[in-house]
Amino acid sequence: MLGTALVPVLQQRHEVWGIDVDDCDICDAKAISAVLRARQPELVMHLAAYTDVDGCEANPQLAEATNSTGTRNVATACAQVGAAMLYVSTDYVFDGTKVGAYLEDDPPNPISVYGQSKWLGEQHVRAILKRYFIARTSWLYGPNGKNFVRTILRVAHQQKLLRVVNDQHGSPTYTRHLASKIAELAETQAYGVYHTTGSGACSWFEFARTILELWPVEGVQVLPILSDESGRAARRPANSVLENRALKQAHLELMPHWKVALAEYLDEIKRSSEARDFEESKRGTAN
Ligand SMILES: NC(=O)c1ccc[n+]([C@@H]2O[C@H](COP(=O)([O-])OP(=O)(O)OC[C@H]3O[C@@H](n4cnc5c(N)ncnc54)[C@H](OP(=O)(O)O)[C@@H]3O)[C@@H](O)[C@H]2O)c1
Repeated sequence: MLGTALVPVLQQRHEVWGIDVDDCDICDAKAISAVLRARQPELVMHLAAYTDVDGCEANPQLAEATNSTGTRNVATACAQVGAAMLYVSTDYVFDGTKVGAYLEDDPPNPISVYGQSKWLGEQHVRAILKRYFIARTSWLYGPNGKNFVRTILRVAHQQKLLRVVNDQHGSPTYTRHLASKIAELAETQAYGVYHTTGSGACSWFEFARTILELWPVEGVQVLPILSDESGRAARRPANSVLENRALKQAHLELMPHWKVALAEYLDEIKRSSEARDFEESKRGTAN
């Protein structure tokens, strides 16, 4: 999802190669090393990951191989060709017990296999490279990927009652905004760890309710539930709000408020064929 937003932004100012798992599996150290030797990039943006947070609980070996060892392979290949690296990490490196927003140097303490594997990935990057960015982000949504906004719209067109978790707080982040911010950050060469999220924060329940305020679907009700009632395999932090302090210190503008970004994304969906798909799915269930 993020990669498809990022490549066109970078292409406006740079020569860019987008590499997917079909081109190169990051679990294969020799393959990633050969690709970078052939291309000789100045900077590698590493977004590839096993991102199914619940799936990681059932398949910890794959999470570890992709998110931890895979990241080590990318960092090692960067070191071999003298490239800097930007690694996209996650709010799920934190345990969620802090009162207030997490700062870049707060100690991670992941509570899920996914969070642990991404945290190990961060540690490899720090150990192997001097010139790196770690950009932690959260609650991504945008075109070309499974995401919460789409799920809520699809389910709201099929069911009357939606139950959504209200005891996890974070910052929804629009991939188009994040892509621009990452591109801007990479040009600073001010290496380090950055929190890069949409501004403001909410619970998943508030997020869902706002989606349906901006895109009303007749007769649909959203009910708040607790994480324990959600039946998800992975634990998630109760609070994963990230203060974007390092961005401010680097004199970079913060990303727009999540409600502004959400309105922009919903407009984008309304202009696309997807809006019709939602309506048709509603008619399909009515029949
Ligand atoms: N989504 C979020 O809410 C969120 C929040 C915080 C941080 N992040 C981080 O942001 C980054 C981008 O997330 P996203 O939501 O855009 O993820 P995504 O849509 O799942 O994209 C991840 C990409 O990595 C590829 N991939 C998986 N295993 C690979 C391997 N072994 N070798 C090479 N490529 C592989 C996937 O290919 P296939 O599709 O073919 O598997 C997919 O194209 C990730 O690093 C993620 O950890 C995401």
